[in-house]
Amino acid sequence: MVDIELWTEKYRPQKLSEVVGQKHVIERLMAWVKKGSIPNMMFAGPAGVGKTTIALALAKELFGNQWKENFQETNASDERGINVVRGKIKDFARTMPLGHDFKIVFLDESDALTPEAQQALRRTMEKYAGVCRFILSCNYSSHIIEPIQSRCAVFRFKRLSENDVKDYMQRIANAEGLHIDDSAYKALYEITGGDLRTATNILQATSALGKITAERLYETVAQARPEDIRKMLDTVLSGDFKNARQMLFDMLINQGLSGEDVIKGIYRQVFEIDISEELRRDLIEKIAEYEFRIDQGGSPEIQLEALLSHFIRK
Ligand SMILES: Nc1ncnc2c1ncn2[C@@H]1O[C@H](COP(=O)(O)OP(=O)(O)OP(=O)(O)O)[C@@H](O)[C@H]1O
Ligand SMILES: [Mg+2]
Repeated sequence: MVDIELWTEKYRPQKLSEVVGQKHVIERLMAWVKKGSIPNMMFAGPAGVGKTTIALALAKELFGNQWKENFQETNASDERGINVVRGKIKDFARTMPLGHDFKIVFLDESDALTPEAQQALRRTMEKYAGVCRFILSCNYSSHIIEPIQSRCAVFRFKRLSENDVKDYMQRIANAEGLHIDDSAYKALYEITGGDLRTATNILQATSALGKITAERLYETVAQARPEDIRKMLDTVLSGDFKNARQMLFDMLINQGLSGEDVIKGIYRQVFEIDISEELRRDLIEKIAEYEFRIDQGGSPEIQLEALLSHFIRK
């Protein structure tokens, strides 16, 4: 899994003009790039529609070859809580920008921050307003405290349209020299609902089979294989979280399964494994909770990892 090049990175647009859809966002950002200044921003919306991509492209256009020095990306859910705000983010925000008037802090999944961490973030935003702009990415803007919301220009990212998905998939297909059926584009849209990360992963997974047709795409995503799920659950129940996580990522990335597919597979297998009835009931409750979160737009990787961690605690 480590030695394959992920198309989600290989084909991530480097410039704002290469982004598909999100025209309402791109237009305003391009105008700000011309002026050379941006406000604090919130990027709210579902997974895989360009939030991180656009923040990166923006930094590259504003800062040119100094973008790395002036741009910091942090994922709030990796390092939830107040320490990341007081440490990493503050340390970056308070040093002078290099060759430009300001630097950018990009905080992914900022709705994972606790309220205290959000308060600390607000203070940091105020204190270093002169030299630092913040871009906060989240699924739901309502999970961010009001004083931060009111300091940001809020952009609502939309699910991409069938045409947007087709555009982008065609780009990859041309560059990779794929044989792809016209019906496949529609299938990619229908399977993913406009999430380009998932679409790209499925396309990559299916490309190994030769010609890409709607039928093959549906086959690729049809269902998690019961034996894979069973192995993952046995592994995590034996206390080996690291390997179970690897198996999870293999299903999500190499096999291109969606979070829903995997969680449905887990639900089915939970009746097969040898555990007490009490534990079974408990786990089913957790499965239901995480299925709901994924359905509401939570990141499948993170939600499923969190679900697995419940198995290990038992
Ligand atoms: N609007 C878009 N235009 C071009 N590519 C896109 C767009 N949206 C997503 N992609 C592609 O999908 C993948 C994921 O995109 P990105 O990281 O920007 O998603 P995101 O919105 O930040 O999702 P998440 O909420 O999960 O972090 C990348 O490979 C990127 O190239
Ligand atoms: Mg992102």
